[in-house]
Amino acid sequence: MTVPPHVAIDPAILYFGTPVILLSSLNEDGTTNLMPMSSVFWLGRRAVLGIGAKSQTALNIERRPEVVMNLVSADLVSHVDRLALTTGRPDVPRWKADAGYVHEPDKFRAAGLSAVASATVRPRRVAEAPVHLEAQVRALHQLEADDVAAGRRTLVVEAQVTKVWIAPDLRLAGYPDRVDPDRWRPLIMSFQHFYGLGARVHPSRLASIDEDRYRVPAPAGRRAEAPAP
Ligand SMILES: Cc1cc2nc3c(=O)[nH]c(=O)nc-3n(C[C@H](O)[C@H](O)[C@H](O)COP(=O)(O)O)c2cc1C
Repeated sequence: MTVPPHVAIDPAILYFGTPVILLSSLNEDGTTNLMPMSSVFWLGRRAVLGIGAKSQTALNIERRPEVVMNLVSADLVSHVDRLALTTGRPDVPRWKADAGYVHEPDKFRAAGLSAVASATVRPRRVAEAPVHLEAQVRALHQLEADDVAAGRRTLVVEAQVTKVWIAPDLRLAGYPDRVDPDRWRPLIMSFQHFYGLGARVHPSRLASIDEDRYRVPAPAGRRAEAPAP
């Protein structure tokens, strides 16, 4: 195979494609704020999320370190898109106001989605999302902390998943605690645009490892955290 030489570019963003979630956090008045976001990945039972420091979500998490990650499927895209360019902050930050953002106090209503109570945290879950991960925030890091000029732009949030809920049809047949990746159709954001996933493209050698090998014995009767694959 001949590979043409690469060209060097200087993109403003490096969003090469990640799953979209609606992040629930608790507002000061006890209602739940929803933030569409896609800077998220998971290792074992921990999640790592990149959250703009000026968002209502960042304020909420600093006050009450609990979240629900509502993972949305591609068919919910129009609901997610209704939350774009909105913020739960009444004092819309300057950059957002200039970009067309408006204050939206009731994100569930705005998105046409319904709230259900969570089991281990106070922020509510999004009923229509096929996957809900309730989580406790365990650490807050500042991104670009080495760059004094950058200021406090983005928080990197580390959260421990405390409860996993999935739509029954996502279960892998014969395995009560597994997700069927052929049925899970996440919504993907790539460079600010929405995509779905195609079909499986190749057999996976990594998948020759039984999933349960990643589970480690839990302390005090709790399920513990697993090593990264
Ligand atoms: C599809 C999508 C993905 C987004 N991903 C992120 C993200 O990963 N991190 C982030 O800080 N903002 C992200 N945003 C922008 C936030 O949704 C936006 O800052 C919003 O105002 C936050 O809401 P809040 O102020 O009520 O917390 C994304 C928006 C959309 C529509």
